[in-house]
Amino acid sequence: MLIAPDRGNLHKIVVLNPKGGCGKTTLATNIAAYYAVRGPAPTLVDFDPQGFSMRWLDKRPGNRPQIHGSGAYQQTMQGRDTVHLQTRPETETLIIDLPAAVSPDELQDITYDAGSILVPVLPSEIDIHCASRFVAELLLVAQIDRRNRQLAVIANRTRQNTRSYGMLMRFLTSLRIPVIAVLRDSQNYVHAAGQGIGICEMPAYKVGKDMPQLKLIFNWLDQWRMRQLDAATSSRFEHLPGAQVLTPANHQGRH
Ligand SMILES: Nc1ncnc2c1ncn2[C@@H]1O[C@H](COP(=O)(O)OP(=O)(O)OP(=O)(O)O)[C@@H](O)[C@H]1O
Ligand SMILES: [Mg+2]
Repeated sequence: MLIAPDRGNLHKIVVLNPKGGCGKTTLATNIAAYYAVRGPAPTLVDFDPQGFSMRWLDKRPGNRPQIHGSGAYQQTMQGRDTVHLQTRPETETLIIDLPAAVSPDELQDITYDAGSILVPVLPSEIDIHCASRFVAELLLVAQIDRRNRQLAVIANRTRQNTRSYGMLMRFLTSLRIPVIAVLRDSQNYVHAAGQGIGICEMPAYKVGKDMPQLKLIFNWLDQWRMRQLDAATSSRFEHLPGAQVLTPANHQGRH
């Protein structure tokens, strides 16, 4: 089990998808940059033995807002039941970047006590097929309860209105999993990765087309406590016959 420190204000964000190259590290580093700019300094945990998140952090210029890094792959789950993730006391956000190779057995351990679970998906038929199976595994094997509203998909490198985008949306709608953002294929992600920064730290005139979708992700993440509260409130009342609980989130028509 990947156990985050037991602090009510600590938001554990897990980015995962067993399909390689779908954008996990890109998403994790961009989220880390966003929380760094906002402060206090987040912790970015790299569980990938290839260590791309930590390499990104090594490149980060000293004058940028701080991100704490943890190359947790050195203390992988292997042979252990539990890994306690270390964070600084001031850290409020813990972002975990996982490698492609995560077995279904490990899913429950990895997602334990996560406030948010993000699955980036590329729009190809193969990727959508793999993502479909993976989301089903999360729901069945890892017993992620969609009512807890921890899980969301991000369509990455996607053009809206393409056939594959339509396929992805239809599938996720059928599972009632929200697709919270559609990131376009853009060299901005490549350039930011090369400089150890996030898109949100690039000049506004360059990232005008990227930021609105990223903001949708950041807004969804920022609502993690509200989502948890909604889930707790709903589960307390759902046994009542005909009960439809009006929570702050569904009242406002959010995901
Ligand atoms: N929206 C995007 N636009 C352009 N390039 C992108 C985008 N998202 C990711 N990339 C590029 O795609 C490649 C793979 O992305 P990334 O490393 O984030 O995937 P990953 O899921 O972490 O891969 P792995 O499974 O190997 O860990 C990288 O070169 C990255 O810069
Ligand atoms: Mg990666």
